[in-house]
Amino acid sequence: MIIDSHAHYDDQAFDEDREEVLVSLQKHRVGIVINVGASLESTKRTVALTQRYSFIYGAAGVHPDEVGGLNEESFGWLREQCLQKKIVAVGEIGLDYYWNKENCAIQKKWFVRQLRLAGELQMPVIVHSREAAADTMEILKQEYNPNTPVVIHCYSYSPEMAGEYLRMGFYLGIGGVITFKNAKKLKETVQMAPVERLLMETDCPYLAPVPYRGKRNDSRNLLYVAEAIGELKGMTAEEVIRVTEQNARRFYRLEET
Ligand code: NI
Repeated sequence: MIIDSHAHYDDQAFDEDREEVLVSLQKHRVGIVINVGASLESTKRTVALTQRYSFIYGAAGVHPDEVGGLNEESFGWLREQCLQKKIVAVGEIGLDYYWNKENCAIQKKWFVRQLRLAGELQMPVIVHSREAAADTMEILKQEYNPNTPVVIHCYSYSPEMAGEYLRMGFYLGIGGVITFKNAKKLKETVQMAPVERLLMETDCPYLAPVPYRGKRNDSRNLLYVAEAIGELKGMTAEEVIRVTEQNARRFYRLEET
């Protein structure tokens, strides 16, 4: 089966036809979706989706753009959501110096707090990092915890830095960008990385692969991502789907069904 390791089906882009899209996924071999929280509100919506659909699991976390909403009280609430039955990871958390909606010090503070929360609860972590390569690496090295596997979602940095993350035991999240002609660094990264450390993700509604670039994305498009990874690794799309399913199960600790 195809596992979408990172999606945002709670996004308003799906308000018109969410049910229809979600129900159609299983007919297209998408067996499991991890819906990822990005704010307090979307974490709440994520928990609701996991309760409504058997094939949806969730991650609870606050994205760097949204950490202004965190305080001791709301952080306590977030911790409680992590204990919900189908919440399998903390995320997405990290640093974003591209949008820079919150200042760097505040971003770092809540990134570290959420990483330590994952450490305390021994949960996997989904990291978002944009234009913040050095600070992200520094924090992840300082806070390294062998009980919390880490995926660098929508990996966008150099192959050299990917090598460093791989040596730390981390996973790389690969999505629609791998099908873009100009994604030279990412293609080099995927060629170099062991396929056992790759997770397929949509980040939908964003980042649709070619031939749907610019349109609303959904998990059915992961077939194009599997094909693109397969081309780079000398594997068939089927083999990529099989291996990345195992990777996602190992990473999120999802039992075989
Ligand atoms: Ni995301």
